[in-house]
Amino acid sequence: MGNILITGASRGIGAATARVLASKGHNLCINYHQQKDSADQLVKELQKTGIKAIAVQADVSKELQVVDLFNTCDEHLGPLTGLVNNMGILLPQMRVEQMDAQRINCLLTTNVTSYFLCCREAIKRMALKNGGQGGAIVNVSSAASRLGAAFEYVDYAASKGAIDTLTIGLSKEVALEAIRVNCVRPGFIATNMHADGGEPNRIERVKDTIPMGRGGQPEKVANAIAWLLSEEASYVTGSFTEIAGGR
Ligand SMILES: NC(=O)c1ccc[n+]([C@@H]2O[C@H](COP(=O)([O-])OP(=O)(O)OC[C@H]3O[C@@H](n4cnc5c(N)ncnc54)[C@H](OP(=O)(O)O)[C@@H]3O)[C@@H](O)[C@H]2O)c1
Repeated sequence: MGNILITGASRGIGAATARVLASKGHNLCINYHQQKDSADQLVKELQKTGIKAIAVQADVSKELQVVDLFNTCDEHLGPLTGLVNNMGILLPQMRVEQMDAQRINCLLTTNVTSYFLCCREAIKRMALKNGGQGGAIVNVSSAASRLGAAFEYVDYAASKGAIDTLTIGLSKEVALEAIRVNCVRPGFIATNMHADGGEPNRIERVKDTIPMGRGGQPEKVANAIAWLLSEEASYVTGSFTEIAGGR
């Protein structure tokens, strides 16, 4: 089974993905930013399934911290086989006309630079030309990249647009290195991210705009990520999976 690093796995979609991947026997590096207790608790739970799991603190928008994170993962788990680029932030809702450069740069650095840096470190380890065995990357984008998140978070939506483009370009760059790069685009998923964006009950408010009439659970996204990482998806690269209830 593989050795997989998941960014932002202390809670939400990242933690759900860790549980699904552990149930399939993968060893896991659980990256977190601030919530050490949740990450430690998750690692204890995962270890009970018989896999190796470690929790590693890193702000993945910072280059040196990303390098340290991957080195720690190598040391404890061995050769990397997969990366789930999952972490992401929302900032309080506002219109574009109210946004200043500090907010825009913070959002883009946190949500976009981080994904590039983590891809770079994963490729260094997995590419055939570097002595690696190949592997798979799944980027977590958002339905917002298609829809734009008007009046709420156009900066966030634009950051996810960048992740979509990263997926398309990188999947072609590394296809002959035996690395597959795919993307999931969740819709409204029940996690604390909405509270961080200033509206804990956001899904309840918008549910009538979702064709299926309800938000989704993190496990639904986790299952799609696990499939994209698996051998069953060995001819799938540069793809987008919508997990948005038809939105
Ligand atoms: N929830 C949705 O409706 C939804 C919809 C579409 C797309 N998504 C995407 O799905 C992904 C996961 O979202 P979620 O809803 O599960 O979010 P969440 O519950 O808010 O969790 C966010 C995770 O990211 C981590 N994180 C934040 N800043 C970080 C940094 N600088 N470095 C490393 N880790 C950092 C957090 O770590 P700590 O807790 O340790 O601080 C946490 O583990 C994100 O990319 C998000 O954009 C979510």
